[in-house]
Amino acid sequence: MPRFERHIFICTNERDDADSRGCCAARGGLDVAGWFKAEGKKRDWKGRVRANRAGCLDACEFGPVVVVYPDQVWYSPTTAEDVRRICDEHIEGGVVVQDLLTPGLG
Ligand code: FES
Repeated sequence: MPRFERHIFICTNERDDADSRGCCAARGGLDVAGWFKAEGKKRDWKGRVRANRAGCLDACEFGPVVVVYPDQVWYSPTTAEDVRRICDEHIEGGVVVQDLLTPGLG
């Protein structure tokens, strides 16, 4: 029995500006994490769904990236509306949001 119905990992990894890989923190990962936290509070996810900040998920070029388990679905949301849609359609509704999938990983 899984601990949570769904577990969302949001990359907020930060690298030095000189690093050619870039990082999700510089591409809005901290905002994305905050939007997921806010959605979770509104939806009373406690004990059911968990959203956690994560270190590098090795998909830096597509950042900011998010992965949803146990579904193993990767997203690259950039706005609060994107996060709201992932929460409404996938986390609550069980339907993958095709147009927000991370290219090549979704
Ligand atoms: S820095 Fe976010 S996936 Fe690598």
